[in-house]
Amino acid sequence: MNILAFEGTAHTASVAIVKKGKIVTNLKHSYTTQQPTGMVPREVAEHHASHLKDLTLQALKQANVSMREIDVLAYSAGPGLGAALQVINSFVTALSIKHNLLLYPIHHSFAHLIVANYIAKAKDPLYIYVSGGNTQLIMLKDNLHPVVYGETEDIALGNALDKLARELGYGFPGGKHIEDAAKKADKFIEMPYTVKGMDLSYAGLVTFASKLKDKETKENIAYGFQEHAFAMLMEVAERALAYTEKEEVVLTGGVALNSRLQEMLKSMAEERGIKYLKLEPQYLGDNAAMIGVAAWHFHLHGIEPLKSEEAFTKPRWRIEKHLEW
Ligand SMILES: Nc1ncnc2c1ncn2[C@@H]1O[C@H](COP(=O)(O)OP(=O)(O)OP(=O)(O)O)[C@@H](O)[C@H]1O
Ligand SMILES: [Mg+2]
Repeated sequence: MNILAFEGTAHTASVAIVKKGKIVTNLKHSYTTQQPTGMVPREVAEHHASHLKDLTLQALKQANVSMREIDVLAYSAGPGLGAALQVINSFVTALSIKHNLLLYPIHHSFAHLIVANYIAKAKDPLYIYVSGGNTQLIMLKDNLHPVVYGETEDIALGNALDKLARELGYGFPGGKHIEDAAKKADKFIEMPYTVKGMDLSYAGLVTFASKLKDKETKENIAYGFQEHAFAMLMEVAERALAYTEKEEVVLTGGVALNSRLQEMLKSMAEERGIKYLKLEPQYLGDNAAMIGVAAWHFHLHGIEPLKSEEAFTKPRWRIEKHLEW
């Protein structure tokens, strides 16, 4: 089965081809800003609209596959920016009508998780999912039904990093700017540490760190912020691991690209004697390969795709409800 897959819930437009569960192409183009602004929804939608066609043609060419050889389409139906989701939905629906293909609507977050099973050969891990819009500790029952063990009570870790970066004058996305700045710090600043049971809160930490900008260097603020934010995450992750007795842990989502966070998880996993399964960078941030792999996973589980007229988008969509179409 050849799957042509599309991602575009947020800043990244991506097209991939998955042949019998094997990723053969994964192309992407991301919206960024030089100025300290966040994502402007209309600009993100325009970005995707202007790149989807070229990405699709390039993906087919690179995989040496024609549209006639595609068996099914897959697209990220949510959660995400409404305007961006509409662009993906229109594009994929048009393709589905033109080429008489069915389509799989994929929950973006579920795809971030399940791709680890296929790429890093995870069997039954605890997933630490940290991205711009999400911060959750999850396991999958029967590899299909998500159970959330803990999450942020307010903003996601990636969003917190992006907000702080904006306050410090960096462009979007901000996570990498904060990571690079933190490496040059020469002082540790104490900041608020907010863990409530299995949940976390990052909003107060961002406000606190932002207020330091006229008193401390960007580097020291970035370092202090990372150390506190990541330590909070490690605390709840360790508790979830103890509770679930999982022997594998996966770090996924765009913030998983952070080397300091990876280092902290590596040492925690070593101390607990469990496996930390690493994904290649191209599968951590948003990408269409994970959407194609999720569709392949659905196919293996006997889940039927939709007709073009049944395609939908869900800007707000809890991961526990990813099979409610
Ligand atoms: N090196 C890094 N360190 C920390 N954060 C990073 C790094 N690289 C990227 N990020 C953050 O990752 C986030 C993007 O994650 P991702 O590509 O999964 O997209 P997303 O829109 O957040 O998706 P989701 O819908 O899954 O929340 C941004 O907040 C960005 O700042
Ligand atoms: Mg994402």
